Amino acid sequence: MTTHHQPTAGHCPAHEQAPPPTGPIPIYGDAFTADPHATYRRLRARGPIVPVEISPRVYGYLAVTYRAAVYLLGNTPARFVKDPQRWAALRQGQVPADSPARMMMQPRDNALWKDGPEHIRLRHAITSALARVDTHALATTVARIADQLIDAFAPAGQADLVAQYSDPLPMLTVFELFGCPQELGSRIVGAVTRVFDGGADASQANAELEDACLELTHLKRHRPGRDVATHLIAAGLTDAEMVQTILLLIGAAAPPTSNHIGNGLRRVLTDARFAGSVRDGVRPLADALDEVLWDNPPVPNYSPLYALGRQTFEGVYLEQGYPILVSFAAANGDPLLAVAPGARAGNRGHLAFSAGVHACPAPDLARIIAETALERILDRLAGFDLDVPETELHNRPGTFLAGLTGLPVRFQPSTRLRPVER
Ligand code: HEM
Repeated sequence: MTTHHQPTAGHCPAHEQAPPPTGPIPIYGDAFTADPHATYRRLRARGPIVPVEISPRVYGYLAVTYRAAVYLLGNTPARFVKDPQRWAALRQGQVPADSPARMMMQPRDNALWKDGPEHIRLRHAITSALARVDTHALATTVARIADQLIDAFAPAGQADLVAQYSDPLPMLTVFELFGCPQELGSRIVGAVTRVFDGGADASQANAELEDACLELTHLKRHRPGRDVATHLIAAGLTDAEMVQTILLLIGAAAPPTSNHIGNGLRRVLTDARFAGSVRDGVRPLADALDEVLWDNPPVPNYSPLYALGRQTFEGVYLEQGYPILVSFAAANGDPLLAVAPGARAGNRGHLAFSAGVHACPAPDLARIIAETALERILDRLAGFDLDVPETELHNRPGTFLAGLTGLPVRFQPSTRLRPVER
């Protein structure tokens, strides 16, 4: 390989993967978090698919134009595959154990990381289970969960809508979709939080998480219901496949939808074009949310792919063994796109839900959850406004997910819809 890499001081070069050619630009860190689109512009100036440092000392490529993104996703699995066994640095033990990239990109035994017939089989189990979700009932469920969360802060006249609303709502909704008892759901949330915190007990928390998913599987085998877990079992998944598929669904559904709800609430609060019209019901909320998916997709960079054999795109040679990520955020912002920024509200040509064989199987469910969540806030919180200047809203750090650290709001205190359960 033709690179000249200066290893980071204090780290053993033997345990570092040499970067792909031509000085990779980091897609993490304070500057990236504060203004990711500035980094995407710099990257796009270098080409359609460019070398990046995904997280400290983890190297790969990032597709930053719309054409490149569609090319990669459309040629999976013919020319590019999901199978992370092809990630040379991971195979050679060069990816730091505590790396965020490792947690998001290492192999797991579920549809997200499979190719060909195995992917088709596992994905079919998911799509057939999700197809049986009653979307009217889902909207009612989300509204009920939303009201319970709002009830908890409505009398106070102020709240952090990320911690108290957009973060918990999708996870609680997923548990209802799975027919998961409350106590088991709380254990899963506790374990997921510890796994994501990546602390010393992360592997213990991961084991507890898998145990809890197995417990849910056993419960549903013995007492089937009209829920997604029961439908997955009916699709023929084994216990081990159930555990990994439940984990995939929790991870794929909850964090992106949480971030999308937070980003959507921010837009409605701060963008004069939407602030009045959406709140008055003149402009559909769905349109505002699609615009948010264009310029602030909750999964900005993901879909790690690996080149099968020698691959080039628009003259760029993609060295094998490196992950090639797709930047849904950069692709959506590609200035060569014919869709003008003003024509994005209500337009679904964005890549926020990816494309191709691994595209998100649940955009409609995600839309129902997000729209209902925003509707309940707008209906219930009179005089709802930001409680801090917009400049004090910050993005969460990270390469793979984009959301707010907090969204402090104030509103007229109101009473609960329901009496507090004792
Ligand atoms: C706004 C919310 C959501 C966004 C932005 C989103 C985005 C995405 C993206 C970009 C991918 C492709 C990942 C990759 O190829 O590596 C994906 C895959 C997936 N999503 Fe979503 N998603 C959302 C909500 C949901 C929900 C609510 C569910 C389930 C109820 C879900 C289930 C999945 C699954 C199972 C996959 C893997 C599909 C496969 O590999 O074949 N997502 N999603």
